[in-house]
Amino acid sequence: MFEGAGGNEVVRVAERAVPEPGPGEVLVRVRRVGLNPADIAQREGRYPPPAGAPADIGGIEVCGTVERCGPGVVRWRTGDRVFGLVDGGGFAERVVAEDRCLAPVPDELGDDEAAAIPEAFITAHDALATVGRLRPGDRVLVNGANGGVGAAALQLVAAFGGTAVGTSRSATGLEHIRALGAEALAQEELLAGDVDRLGRFDLVIELVGGPNLARLPSVLAPRGRIVVVGVAAGDAVELALRPFIRLRASLTGTNLRNRPPEEKALAVQAFAHEVVPLLARRRLVAHVEACFPHTEAVAAFERLASSGKRGKVLLGFPDGADG
Ligand SMILES: NC(=O)c1ccc[n+]([C@@H]2O[C@H](COP(=O)([O-])OP(=O)(O)OC[C@H]3O[C@@H](n4cnc5c(N)ncnc54)[C@H](OP(=O)(O)O)[C@@H]3O)[C@@H](O)[C@H]2O)c1
Repeated sequence: MFEGAGGNEVVRVAERAVPEPGPGEVLVRVRRVGLNPADIAQREGRYPPPAGAPADIGGIEVCGTVERCGPGVVRWRTGDRVFGLVDGGGFAERVVAEDRCLAPVPDELGDDEAAAIPEAFITAHDALATVGRLRPGDRVLVNGANGGVGAAALQLVAAFGGTAVGTSRSATGLEHIRALGAEALAQEELLAGDVDRLGRFDLVIELVGGPNLARLPSVLAPRGRIVVVGVAAGDAVELALRPFIRLRASLTGTNLRNRPPEEKALAVQAFAHEVVPLLARRRLVAHVEACFPHTEAVAAFERLASSGKRGKVLLGFPDGADG
């Protein structure tokens, strides 16, 4: 939990009452949770959670087993392995989730890999397929592609018949992008390179923001789409608008956590139907940078904030037998 707002000095392990699942909700016994930049923003007091979610417990995705179902839940039974999204409170041994915001974990996936999937793959799939209207043959640029969402996006582009190019600011990040089978481009090359060399993109998934955005209109293909998902490098830019008119291009933002529950459930169920089978067949894989015991949450936050990660940072909770 977070005792106030700030840096890692506000991170504590504490006892809380077990939450009660209401209608349409299930109580999940958490095995692993992925950490996200949103958790850092919440810890720092910059990102209040949606109404009803605890402000002092981070954790927006979970992997575990169903412990108890609330009234009216028919989709799940006690003991089912599930992963999915929660509005908050995931950094805990138990959390309440909406039944429709969970998906079944395929037998082929262990807990670590499963926990590295929901937020990254649901965000990437929604940004590419639903918001970005990805089509087979599209050339797609993913900026900040060595992170959780970026690595998922690169693989999804290839699986859906597109060609992916990923940028990173670090050598280890570029290596990770190549290992995922995508073309790697140093961020400075994107910023400085001429269009003849870079080529044009049908779709851009922007996970970094800042100076990248100013560069993007000049590398868009006709009817190109820019989908802004993250702006860690800055959200104020000077943008040339003429290319949007000339190319009939578009610039869209998207957000998973704060959208209405029905729309969030749709994104999760689209993931369950279109992405989970590819994960089960090992056509897509999720990478884990490190898994820390929940008692070492500070070390996990430090790793999350470091540059050049090659996968997700997780927290692990003891199972029913050992805790
Ligand atoms: N809109 C939504 O619903 C939604 C959902 C999920 C995530 N997000 C946002 O999307 C972004 C990516 O999430 P993630 O889970 O993939 O995070 P992540 O695993 O931490 O990856 C972040 C990526 O952005 C790069 N990056 C961060 N700051 C940078 C900077 N100042 N200059 C250049 N590159 C920078 C990182 O490079 P290094 O490895 O070198 O640090 C890495 O490639 C985050 O901003 C996150 O908040 C939004």
